[in-house]
Amino acid sequence: MLNVENLSFSYGGVQALTEVTMNVPTGEMVCIMGRNGVGKTTLVRNIMGLLSLSFGSVTLDEVEISALPPHRRVRQGMAYVPQGRQIFPRLTVEENLRTGLASRGDEILPDVFEYFPVLDEMRGRMGGDLSGGQQQQLAIARALVTKPRLLILDEPTEGIQPNIIQRIGEVLSMLSKEQGMTILIVEQYLDFVKEFSDRFVLMNRGRVVASDVIDQLSEELIEEYLHV
Ligand SMILES: Nc1ncnc2c1ncn2[C@@H]1O[C@H](COP(=O)(O)OP(=O)(O)O)[C@@H](O)[C@H]1O
Ligand SMILES: [Mg+2]
Repeated sequence: MLNVENLSFSYGGVQALTEVTMNVPTGEMVCIMGRNGVGKTTLVRNIMGLLSLSFGSVTLDEVEISALPPHRRVRQGMAYVPQGRQIFPRLTVEENLRTGLASRGDEILPDVFEYFPVLDEMRGRMGGDLSGGQQQQLAIARALVTKPRLLILDEPTEGIQPNIIQRIGEVLSMLSKEQGMTILIVEQYLDFVKEFSDRFVLMNRGRVVASDVIDQLSEELIEEYLHV
């Protein structure tokens, strides 16, 4: 569904991504892994159009989208949950969710409150008053209100307690298995990746060093590219 071909990107003179090629098949959950600073966030920001690639291409369902601004990619069915959540602290939960809707009159589908019931209980509370785990659920729900075909998440389990990590994993897994949603997730938490992902893409120093089905994520790869 999503194809990244030979993508390179530099911050000024500093090359952050070099000839990255990776594919995300329809309906699968693919995990981008690698140590801090290897370029995972830079890659997903390029895929969303929040950064402009220097070389290469990004195609969605065989249509090249490399030149489209982020909001046009959202209209093509892509949604993004940024690292660090970035919800609006001075808007309520409901208002935060409304910022994800295409137009004012649209209704928030009840589904998101079914996936994350705590958001229903907290509808009128300020985003900034929520716990880290609740904010992460809000950030994911805000992306889901656009009804994406491709959901991209950047380290959604970072700094979150285990029971909420499990809940997030189950929701993503259900969206992928039952609704055929395609999911691309940056994730460092190995247990989560092994339990929920279909495939992995392993990065080091701005390059893809391995990619395969999740069963092929060997101890050798983990030792070489993930352990600090
Ligand atoms: N805005 C920026 N300007 C310059 N360099 C940056 C910027 N953001 C990230 N980098 C550098 O790009 C590299 C990749 O960063 P990043 O994509 O955030 O890695 P990861 O998400 O894998 O931790 C790092 O060396 C980082 O220091
Ligand atoms: Mg990052």
